[in-house]
Amino acid sequence: MTSICIRRFCHHSSGIKNVTIFGGGLMGSGIAQVAAQSGFNVLLVDQQKEILDKSHKRILQSVEKMAKKQDKVEPKEFVESVISRISTKQFNTANDSSFDMKHETDLVIEAIVENMEAKHKLFEILDAESPENTIFATNTSSLPVGEIFQHVKRSDKVGGLHYFNPVPMMKLLEVVKADTTSDDTFHKLCSFGSEMNKTVVKCKDTAGFIVNRLLVPYLAEAVLMLERGDAEMKDIDTAMKLGAGYPMGPFELLDYVGLDTTEAILQGWCDKYPDTFKVPETVRKLVAEGKLGRKSGEGFYNYSK
Ligand code: CAA
Ligand code: NAD
Repeated sequence: MTSICIRRFCHHSSGIKNVTIFGGGLMGSGIAQVAAQSGFNVLLVDQQKEILDKSHKRILQSVEKMAKKQDKVEPKEFVESVISRISTKQFNTANDSSFDMKHETDLVIEAIVENMEAKHKLFEILDAESPENTIFATNTSSLPVGEIFQHVKRSDKVGGLHYFNPVPMMKLLEVVKADTTSDDTFHKLCSFGSEMNKTVVKCKDTAGFIVNRLLVPYLAEAVLMLERGDAEMKDIDTAMKLGAGYPMGPFELLDYVGLDTTEAILQGWCDKYPDTFKVPETVRKLVAEGKLGRKSGEGFYNYSK
C-alpha cells in the first residue's frame, strides 16, 4: 500500500518547500496531490480555468479515496489540509510572455504536453523570471532532458523527475541526471523524491530512461499484434494480466497513459532511431479521431458508460 504522511511542521532536507507545477492534466494533478500530501506548498498552473477546475476535482476525488483507504481518524481534516496546500493559476505560453513568480518557488516541475517546442517556450519564460536558485525539472516521458533545458542559463540546476501514472498509487520515481546537472541538484532532486514517499531510481539521460525504454516498445508491439490479426484485443489484455501478472493489459494501459502521449513518445524516437521504433497506424488513427483513451472517454475501449 502506498503510504502517505501529512507533515504539519515539516523540515525537508532537500531544502525544497514551494513547488510550482506546470500542466494540470493526468500527471500534473497527481504530482500536485502527492506533493501537497507530503507537506509541500504547491502552485498548479494550466492554460484555462476549466482545466484547473477539472484538476481540482480529480485531486479532491483521489485524496478522498486515499483518506478512506488509509482509514484516517479525521478524513475530513486530512482532505482539507491537503487541498489547502494547493493553489492554482492560469497561464498560457501562447498568450502570455511572462510569468510572475510571486509565489517563491524552490522547484518547478513541468508536466505539459510532450512537445519539445512547447517545453522550450515555457522554460525560456521561466528562466528569465525565476529566482536564481530555483531548480527546473521535467516529467517528460521520452524527450532528452538535456535538450529540453538547452537554452536555460541555470544549466546546473536542471534534471528529470519522471513520475508514473497514477501518481498517487505508483511508488516509483525516476530521477534523471542530464550532462549539465550538478551533483548538488541531483542530490536535492533525489531527496525531494524520497520526501514525496517515492522509491527513487537514478537514471542517465537516455531514451525512455529505464521503464519506458522497456514498456513502450511492448505496448507498440501489442498494437502491431492486433493489426496483424494474431489475436483479439481483449484476449491480448487477458493474456498479459493472467499470463504475465501485469495489473493491466497493454490496451488498457495504452488508454490509461493516453494515446496522444504514446504517439508523441514513439514519434520522437522514430525521428531519432527510425530502424528501431515504429508508430502503429491504429494509434495514429485513433489520435486523429480524438480518441485519446480514458481522458477523452474513448480509445481502444469506450468509457462513455
Ligand atoms: N488515487 C487514489 N486512489 C486510487 C487511484 C488514484 N488515482 N487509482 C486507484 N486508486 C485506488 C482505488 O480506490 C482502489 O482502492 P481500494 O483497494 O481501497 O478499493 C485501489 O487503488 C485499486 O484500484 P482499482 O481496484 O480501481 O484498480 P487496480 O487494483 O487495478 O489498481 C492501478 C489500479 C494502480 C492503476 C493498477 O491497475 C496498476 O498498477 N496499473 C498499471 C499502471 C501502470 O503501469 N502505470 C505506469 C504507466 S507508464 C507511465 O506512467 C510512464 C510514462 O511516461 C507513460
Ligand atoms: P495531459 O494531456 O493529461 O496534460 C497536459 C496538460 O498540460 C494539459 O492540461 C494542458 O492544458 C497543459 N498544457 C499544455 N501546454 C501548456 C503550457 N504551455 N502551460 C501550461 N499548461 C500547459 O498530459 P499528461 O499525461 O499529464 O502528460 C504530461 C507530461 O507528462 C508529458 O510530458 C508526458 O510525456 C509526461 N508523462 C505522462 C505519463 C502518462 O502516463 N500520461 C506518465 C509519465 C510522464
